Amino acid sequence: MVKVTVCGAAGGIGQPLSLLLKLNPAVSELALFDIVNAKGVAADLSHINTPAVVTGHQPANKEDKTAIVDALKGTDLVVIPAGVPRKPGMTRADLFNINASIIRDLVANIGRTAPNAAILIISNPVNATVPIAAEVLKKLGVFNPGKLFGVTTLDSVRAETFLGELINVNPSQLQGRISVVGGHSGDTIVPLINVTPDVSAKVANISKADYDKFVNRVQFGGDEVVKAKNGAGSATLSMAYAGYRFAAGVLNSLGGASTSSSGVPDSSYVYLPGVPGGKEFSAKYLNGVDFFSVPIVLENGVIKSFINPFEHMKITQKEQELVKVALGGLEKSIEQGTNFVKGSK
Ligand code: NAD
Ligand code: LMR
Repeated sequence: MVKVTVCGAAGGIGQPLSLLLKLNPAVSELALFDIVNAKGVAADLSHINTPAVVTGHQPANKEDKTAIVDALKGTDLVVIPAGVPRKPGMTRADLFNINASIIRDLVANIGRTAPNAAILIISNPVNATVPIAAEVLKKLGVFNPGKLFGVTTLDSVRAETFLGELINVNPSQLQGRISVVGGHSGDTIVPLINVTPDVSAKVANISKADYDKFVNRVQFGGDEVVKAKNGAGSATLSMAYAGYRFAAGVLNSLGGASTSSSGVPDSSYVYLPGVPGGKEFSAKYLNGVDFFSVPIVLENGVIKSFINPFEHMKITQKEQELVKVALGGLEKSIEQGTNFVKGSK
């Protein structure tokens, strides 16, 4: 019996992500929360002939707290794609002013109503919204770093697709054979492609120009979609796929499966000092940066360990330089997120 709650379920990501979750046989209850149209989306999905019982929760007005409490009561996993997306010309950081308080308030409700739930944050800027969530949970005295996940899977999905095109390999076969670490925005995103010897042998033939283009495309793939949608939002369908891939990993681990069983597991942007060995890793390789996306191994929905890319992958000089650049951007976003909550009532 697993209850999953989606906050922002009526949005561009929320709807297809909820559809994918409805198809997962491990889900017994799917609670959809949004400030608009949650009941409509729930009624629609509820007609699909899979076991998950779908419920819709929408506040009647700004003061109504019963909808969010009902959506979260007894939940095991909360996925959050609530908030505004980018328009052309904006950076993810430009979303902070609106999305920071949405995440702060939703996570506070989770901390009060479902303190043991795993929390998956999709809303941008992920580099700052995850530190916001951590700080809110700390304030409430219920922070479990092993259960707070910034969803960076779309970067891996893109890296697999773009590298597959470049080395002529079926991109779905690259899952677990390359990795992406760092954060989720521009040059904080660092693809690592020398993870397994077979892929390493193929990428050895890529020209420097093609490699640079590949890195740039992974780092700025989000912009490609924002530009193509021309004001109608950012990635929604590829994100729903990526968010589901990550959520399904968490759900599988609740059912006893280990995420390390098939190659390198997906990365997630996590609070390193709260993960076994994470503090030492950060001190040694990341100048003490607290949040970083690394491949994580899950057990029963909790981070059991992570894979240290510097020790278990053949990181090139160039990739080390990319990590160094990433740390600068991450430090600023982490500070912004943390200070936002410290300055809030
Ligand atoms: P959208 O505008 O289509 O949907 C957002 C939904 O959130 C809307 O239905 C809205 O009503 C709802 N919402 C707003 N405030 C809410 C609140 N307080 N509680 C509950 N629901 C609320 O946007 P989208 O395209 O689905 O994108 C959502 C977020 O995901 C954006 O911040 C976007 O930047 C981010 N995103 C992240 C990634 C990633 O890789 N992590 C990828 C794509 C998009
Ligand atoms: C993405 O990577 O597609 C998302 O973070 C959305 C965006 O704003 O680019």
